[in-house]
Amino acid sequence: MQEQELQALLSQLSPEEKIGQLVQLPASFQEEGNATGPAMQMGLTQEDLALAGSYLGLIGAKKLRKLQETYMARHPHHIPLLFMADIINGYRTVFPIPLAQSCMFDPALVEACASIAAKETAASGVHVTFSPMADLSRDARWGRVMEGGGEDPFVSGQTAAAMVRGYQGKDIRDKGKIGACLKHFAGYGAPEGGRDYNNAELSERTLREDYLPAYRAAVDAGCALVMPSFNTLDRVPSAANAWLLKDILRKEMGFSGMVISDWSAVAELIPHGIARDEKEAAYLALRAGVDMDMSSPVYIKNLKALVEAGKIPLQWIDEAVLRVLTLKNKLGLFENPFKDLDENEESALHLCEAHRQAARKCAEKSFVLLKNEGSLLPLAEPGETAWIGPYVDTQMLNGAWSIFADDGDTLSLRSALALHEKTKNAPTAVGCAIADPDSPVQGFMSAVSLSGVDEAQALREAAALAQKAKNVVLALGEHRECSGEAASRGTLTLPKCQLKLLDSIAEVNPNIIVLLFTGRPLDIRAVQEKAKAILLCWLPGTEGASAAVRTVLGEASPSGRLSMAFPYCVGQLPLHYNHLRTGRPYSGDYKAGRFGSKYQDIPNDPLYPFGFGLTYTEFAYGPVTLSQSSIKKGGGLTASVTVTNVGKRPGEETVQLYLRDECGSVARPVRTLKAFEQVTLKPGESRRVSFRIDESMLRFYDIHMAYTSEPGDFTVFIGPDSRTEKGARFTLKEE
Ligand code: BGC
Repeated sequence: MQEQELQALLSQLSPEEKIGQLVQLPASFQEEGNATGPAMQMGLTQEDLALAGSYLGLIGAKKLRKLQETYMARHPHHIPLLFMADIINGYRTVFPIPLAQSCMFDPALVEACASIAAKETAASGVHVTFSPMADLSRDARWGRVMEGGGEDPFVSGQTAAAMVRGYQGKDIRDKGKIGACLKHFAGYGAPEGGRDYNNAELSERTLREDYLPAYRAAVDAGCALVMPSFNTLDRVPSAANAWLLKDILRKEMGFSGMVISDWSAVAELIPHGIARDEKEAAYLALRAGVDMDMSSPVYIKNLKALVEAGKIPLQWIDEAVLRVLTLKNKLGLFENPFKDLDENEESALHLCEAHRQAARKCAEKSFVLLKNEGSLLPLAEPGETAWIGPYVDTQMLNGAWSIFADDGDTLSLRSALALHEKTKNAPTAVGCAIADPDSPVQGFMSAVSLSGVDEAQALREAAALAQKAKNVVLALGEHRECSGEAASRGTLTLPKCQLKLLDSIAEVNPNIIVLLFTGRPLDIRAVQEKAKAILLCWLPGTEGASAAVRTVLGEASPSGRLSMAFPYCVGQLPLHYNHLRTGRPYSGDYKAGRFGSKYQDIPNDPLYPFGFGLTYTEFAYGPVTLSQSSIKKGGGLTASVTVTNVGKRPGEETVQLYLRDECGSVARPVRTLKAFEQVTLKPGESRRVSFRIDESMLRFYDIHMAYTSEPGDFTVFIGPDSRTEKGARFTLKEE
């Protein structure tokens, strides 16, 4: 449809029809088919349901074809419905959780995974996914860290932008493409105390410098929609924050797409205490720039009266409706309301071999090798290994958001072992349940019981098996329902039953390799102490188990890097490598540094820092050299380093470049990641890796909040992780 045709359509709509376009209802309403149950509780009438312009959470070609046909036939102007769903890390073929994907440091592969997810989703009739989440996260207590790109603005931005490109391609109208909804704008990843939905207390400078860049990267990549966050920022909930949604998002970032509230966030302006009633909530949200109201009755029940009372100009409604119609038009729905939905394609694409292989490749690349004492991994003699632990026998490897996937399609470690020639007869034992019987993982009793097996006996059997084996692969981790939305934790240790299993195995066999399955960084001091090797597998998806078996056997080499540090313990949180300098840096010597910035009882440094990850070979770095020792405004230089594979196996290295501004008008971070590059080298092979450093990379929000660079000295660090000390200095000259 041409722009004028959309305008003409808009002008024909009655106020009720317009407001209907601004409403998204949850799947349960449609599944009931009439205004009973939850819809009635919300006070919606049959007419409201007939005009609501969008649904979330419905999926499936057959179902959505019928729904679209019936809805359009009844709609006075035959405007198609818009279907959205949470496709976070794959639909039927499940990829590793986004946090794990960001550990690949490989935007092209992230993009490829999102593109597969889009194809599977589009075939099932959904037009938009509520992804990517670009919320910077520095606090592992927050359960939703699993959905984002970790603690670094650059890596989170690269990951989110790659997902947008993968979902949307060049044009969301194209076959197999869907719209991407960036979320949760802004600062949702910084809830106080790590507790979900809590207030985020960020200075404008920290917001702009650290939190906004990842969202901006996704906006620059062209995301079609944006979702404001639940949290308050400077005491204003995002759904009512006109400064955030208009001044920053639309004016500064140039976003022109549609804004949809988070689930019931418009109605929640009342409990937030900034709206007295639904009318005020509707007014505040529409004024702030929320076009569509998700799963709340506020717009549908109040906007008409507000317009009639002259409290809301009709123009506000028209602008919002036009953005919704424009999105439907960009998706091509006016020409083809079914877009790509196709039952045959569904069966051909879902979980097809190519998608499974991509999921396996992604899982392999996302694993992070945290420890490998004596090069225990890869296993030379897999036949002499016992595979033990609650994660040996579970298909719950998909992550909390894989709500449309079937666990039955996911390989368990036990099945993956059985499928591999070298491990098909490997001895296995579960040893204990995934969660403690008194754990907060309520309602998931299958996880906290050993289905009739006596706990003590399970432990004894596991220990007996471990005693006979040369090595033990111990598959431990956090239950998948312990991370995700509304899954914050105040402690980050493994369940007591798993720690007991670890102790029992360690008593009889010192050669322990832990495979760690988790949706967030954990406190793994006990594992670090008792295991010789630790392979972090995150929640790796449909093919994660086969990826883990292949990695243990050395058929794949781990090369992932932590996009979020593993803390020493909870007391360090929030934690991030790019922290500001303090006037009293701690020297490391407790007596000399009595009044340094430190804890009395725990170290300052995390157990495993940002950017860290080992592989099956080793790399050596030469000195960092610069093409020149000074630059001017608008100029740049090249920083280079030679990387050599000094080990015995081929391997992939992620070369990371950090910058430090030695002195600024406001305090500057100790260092900030600005670039990375991956190189694959054979044993003995060297490669010169060069990075361009432009003056624009030195910019920050100065004392006057101007985004600029300041003359002075800068240090470039290039190395394997955020602790690297290999560096060189240059000067940005006065003009
Ligand atoms: C979450 C969003 C999600 C939405 C729709 C909300 O509770 O915060 O991330 O997209 O539900 O399912």
